[in-house]
Amino acid sequence: MRNSRLLLRSAPGWWLLLAVPAVVLLALLGAVHAAAAEPQHLAPGGPRPLETSCVSCHAQLDDALLEPTRHTGDDIHFLKGLSCHDCHGGNPAAGADGDPEAAHDRKLGWTGKPVRGQVPAFCARCHADAAFMKRFNPHTRIDQYSEYRTSVHGRRNAEGDERAAVCVDCHGVHSIRAVSDPRSPVYPTRVAETCGTCHADENRMRHYSLATTQYAEYRKSVHARALYEGGDTSAPTCNDCHGSHGAVPPGVENVAAVCGSCHGREATLFRETEAKLKLDLTPCIQCMVCHGNHAVSPPTDGMVGVGADSTCTGCHVEEDKGYKAAVRMADSIHGLVERLREASDRLDLAERAGVEVGPDRFALQEARDQLVEARVLVHSFDLERFLIAAQKGIAAADAGVAAGKRAAAELRTRRAGLGLSLVIIVAVIIALALKVREVDRKPAT
Ligand code: HEC
Ligand code: HEC
Ligand code: HEC
Ligand code: HEC
Ligand code: HEC
Ligand code: HEC
Ligand code: HEC
Ligand code: HEC
Ligand code: HEC
Repeated sequence: MRNSRLLLRSAPGWWLLLAVPAVVLLALLGAVHAAAAEPQHLAPGGPRPLETSCVSCHAQLDDALLEPTRHTGDDIHFLKGLSCHDCHGGNPAAGADGDPEAAHDRKLGWTGKPVRGQVPAFCARCHADAAFMKRFNPHTRIDQYSEYRTSVHGRRNAEGDERAAVCVDCHGVHSIRAVSDPRSPVYPTRVAETCGTCHADENRMRHYSLATTQYAEYRKSVHARALYEGGDTSAPTCNDCHGSHGAVPPGVENVAAVCGSCHGREATLFRETEAKLKLDLTPCIQCMVCHGNHAVSPPTDGMVGVGADSTCTGCHVEEDKGYKAAVRMADSIHGLVERLREASDRLDLAERAGVEVGPDRFALQEARDQLVEARVLVHSFDLERFLIAAQKGIAAADAGVAAGKRAAAELRTRRAGLGLSLVIIVAVIIALALKVREVDRKPAT
């Protein structure tokens, strides 16, 4: 064999001493591994993944012909016991004598390089074959291809559009990694960039009427911050909202479901109010009308009410019920925030002066909880329900303000007491001093 001779010729003697036991060990390990994962489609006694003529010949070629052999250690297919010919076909046992034609045997299904448009079908030959895939992993999904066909990418691909994404654009070709591998281009922290290679490239997307801002906007969002800065992989990236293989923009009906899959409470509140007040809230239940889709920013209290940042005045006009409710909601939130701040400041002051306010501070937590609750209940569009929370919060904050005032009064009393005792002490000292002087002045007799 050409390459083993090459190896032997260039190896110094001591290397062999190490290499022989290492090779034996590796062969043993290999045998154990192969016994566990020997793909059943291989002819019995057929070459192992790294021992085919495809690998050994291509390893000695250049550039694009060599490249595939450099990733056999990372590629999930090799790790699962598959090899070049499982994807490309051909005869893995032939060609060892240097004749590519014998290996590139079209009668044995050799495909050559699949044309771009055919890649999905090429991968689906296995990935959509339940019987084949279950041999490797009984829980593996086999719907990637059928999902892909429903996506905008798949539909464009079927029309012969070469620019739409195919499997290898998202997964790579010869270094395909498990999706749970952090180096995979579809790992949560890398998906957005992978989609962005096309969707943020004006040149590539110039044939379509799509914006190319999704990636840049997403990177500014609360979601991206949670994912990249907070390391929170439960925060969504592109495929959580669009699907991995069925990429389509969620329609009007589905946005609430997409966002609601994680933010269940907000989505449910709308539905509860629809039932309770017999309203049709379909136009406003789409979270995006108020939060946007890609650049979701941290919500502010200004978004409620009728001020400059209001999200309500987009649909409600002065004097309608929603408008009036918006004003009430904003006033309540604003009032609660103000009272909470006042209570907090007063308790801080008292604490610094040494008054014990621990229990009052603890009681104030109730006001904070109700503020959080009220902010969520904005999504109910149910003023009554909202006001219950807001008023509980205001009551708790008021109690905090009262406690702060009590502490201040106690402090004043203490200070007044201290002042009075100081005056008395000083008076006594003066009186004593006068007395001493009077005694001194009396002539001794
Ligand atoms: C003896 C060397 C040799 C062996 C063995 C060999 N190849 Fe090749 N292969 C080549 C050479 C040289 C080329 C480039 C010229 C050509 O296409 O024939 C090539 C090209 C290819 C291409 C790209 C063809 C294209 O359309 O661009 C694929 C895919 C490929 N080989 C797969 C395989 C597979 C799979 C096997 C094993 C079943 C295999 N090769 C075995 C030497 C080899
Ligand atoms: C998981 C399936 C899969 C495996 C395994 C695989 N290939 Fe490929 N290979 C492909 C696909 C798909 C393409 C076409 C990529 C594209 O369109 O960019 C390709 C392209 C190629 C090309 C053409 C490269 C070019 O840019 O012109 C060669 C050569 C090749 N493969 C050889 C190999 C060899 C050798 C092995 C084993 C070391 C191998 N392949 C293993 C799927 C596979
Ligand atoms: C637009 C990008 C994109 C395209 C095109 C794409 N995938 Fe995926 N694929 C993904 C993402 C993202 C995931 C990760 C899902 C996850 O993290 O759960 C994934 C996951 C997978 C998985 C792991 C199992 C699963 O379903 O989650 C397989 C297998 C897979 N893809 C195969 C394919 C095949 C085969 C094709 C072509 C028919 C394809 N993919 C096309 C993005 C893509
Ligand atoms: C010869 C059959 C075969 C072909 C062809 C094939 N695969 Fe696979 N692929 C597998 C098997 C088997 C696994 C391991 C599945 C498992 O363990 O869940 C796998 C695993 C994967 C995974 C990792 C899945 C995970 O759960 O992490 C991805 C991604 C993937 N393949 C993508 C592709 C792409 C893209 C193509 C086309 C270029 C392709 N495959 C072609 C058989 C194949
Ligand atoms: C190889 C380039 C490429 C990659 C990578 C890619 N896309 Fe696409 N995508 C396209 C093209 C081209 C279209 C078709 C646009 C059209 O027809 O309007 C498209 C369409 C879409 C659409 C439909 C838009 C519409 O309203 O028509 C969505 C959604 C989408 N892609 C999401 C994604 C996501 C999510 C990812 C990553 C997981 C991704 N894409 C990766 C090229 C790509
Ligand atoms: C939090 C959910 C979410 C995330 C994350 C997300 N999208 Fe979207 N995206 C949407 C929604 C909702 C729409 C529908 C917009 C509409 O109907 O007007 C959309 C629309 C699109 C469209 C259609 C054109 C447009 O701009 O309206 C494309 C393309 C797209 N997204 C790509 C991406 C890409 C690429 C990423 C990752 C960088 C991404 N999306 C991340 C929710 C999301
Ligand atoms: C895959 C789960 C997931 C999906 C889908 C999702 N989100 Fe989020 N969202 C999160 C996580 C995680 C956070 C970060 C929570 C944190 O840091 O407090 C977050 C944060 C937010 C925040 C900020 C909350 C705060 O208190 O600052 C808003 C607003 C938001 N998302 C709206 C949306 C909208 C609108 C959609 C749909 C277009 C959506 N989300 C889709 C998981 C998701
Ligand atoms: C009519 C406008 C509107 C719609 C529609 C809307 N929101 Fe909100 N959302 C708001 C406002 C206003 C706030 C901020 C309240 C505050 O901070 O005072 C908010 C806050 C949030 C928060 C942060 C809650 C917190 O604890 O501060 C999340 C998460 C959220 N919205 C998710 C959603 C989801 C999911 C949907 C769709 C089901 C949705 N929103 C629909 C107006 C809206
Ligand atoms: C996308 C449009 C839209 C936005 C934005 C919007 N609403 Fe509405 N709102 C509606 C529709 C539609 C109804 C159903 C009742 C109707 O037809 O008047 C409604 C009803 C309501 C109701 C119930 C009225 C009743 O009849 O009992 C309240 C309260 C309300 N909205 C408050 C708000 C608040 C507060 C905001 C801002 C945070 C807001 N809305 C933003 C469209 C919207």
